[in-house]
Amino acid sequence: MTRRHKWQLAGGVVVVGSLVLVLAFHLWRTKNISSVQRGWTVAHNKGCFTCHGPGGIRGTPAPGSTFGEAPTWEGGTYMMYVKDEQEIRDWILDGAPARLRSDPEWMRQQQKAVITMPGWRGAISERELTDLIAFYKAVSDFVTPPDSSLAEQGRQEAKKLGCFSCHGPQGRGTMPNVRSFKGYIPSWNGDDFPELVQNDQEIRDWILDGGPKRILEHPVAKWFIEREPIKMPRFRGHITDEQMNAIIAYIHWLRGRP
Ligand code: HEC
Ligand code: HEC
Repeated sequence: MTRRHKWQLAGGVVVVGSLVLVLAFHLWRTKNISSVQRGWTVAHNKGCFTCHGPGGIRGTPAPGSTFGEAPTWEGGTYMMYVKDEQEIRDWILDGAPARLRSDPEWMRQQQKAVITMPGWRGAISERELTDLIAFYKAVSDFVTPPDSSLAEQGRQEAKKLGCFSCHGPQGRGTMPNVRSFKGYIPSWNGDDFPELVQNDQEIRDWILDGGPKRILEHPVAKWFIEREPIKMPRFRGHITDEQMNAIIAYIHWLRGRP
């Protein structure tokens, strides 16, 4: 092998090695992007937000149609349109569930409408559909803790305090956060939660002081936390013990353990 060849070989190894590292870093960073967050992106990319409003939380008038609007997905209105999870799928794939499509009166009325729900069959992959349904379910509060449980109270408190603006619908999102360690705001039900929160005291530390000392004073974590534009707000003095306990109960419910 000539000297020149050796250099070329070394250069090749460096280039390929760097590509592998970049790819591995990318995979590691995106591994915990939640299904709900991917569904948000699907909804954005397919244009669902044109009719159902930004984030799916604002309706659009649909004069002439049976319901009179492309409804917001928020605020429990899904109960008027969706009987079960299968029907969410049918709305998206066929523009309405079979129950309505087989009703001649409904079909006749819909023909007079200026806007109707498009059917996306063939224009959406199975994986995209799964994520989109997860997103719709989170935004519409399709599944919530039992009425009048502490966890349900916690969900309401979290909503009032604005937690879901950053942590995504129901705390299930992973919104982007450039320059942060992982590149996103962690969800409350993600696999990386146990790294960030080891016990209930640490949940309190996050909410009251923007993080537990273990993380805030860790040299690497600290460097990232100082640089990230969106930080966990410090709610100390702006949250009661009662709200705190309820929110902790909600986070436990979300993570599926008592
Ligand atoms: C062109 C406007 C338009 C677009 C784009 C659109 N929808 Fe709709 N959607 C409607 C209208 C209007 C209705 C009410 C039923 C009807 O009149 O057809 C509806 C109803 C629905 C419903 C049942 C009612 C509810 O809101 O819970 C779901 C679920 C739904 N749309 C999901 C989606 C999803 C997901 C997307 C993107 C893949 C999407 N829609 C894109 C207009 C639209
Ligand atoms: C302005 C955006 C914002 C709001 C509002 C917000 N958080 Fe956070 N939260 C963050 C960020 C960013 C982090 C992660 C910090 C980091 O990257 O080090 C975080 C981390 C957390 C964590 C750590 C673990 C995890 O996986 O999420 C908990 C628990 C948490 N927040 C709870 C709450 C609660 C409860 C509320 C409402 C009372 C709330 N947050 C409101 C941005 C926010």
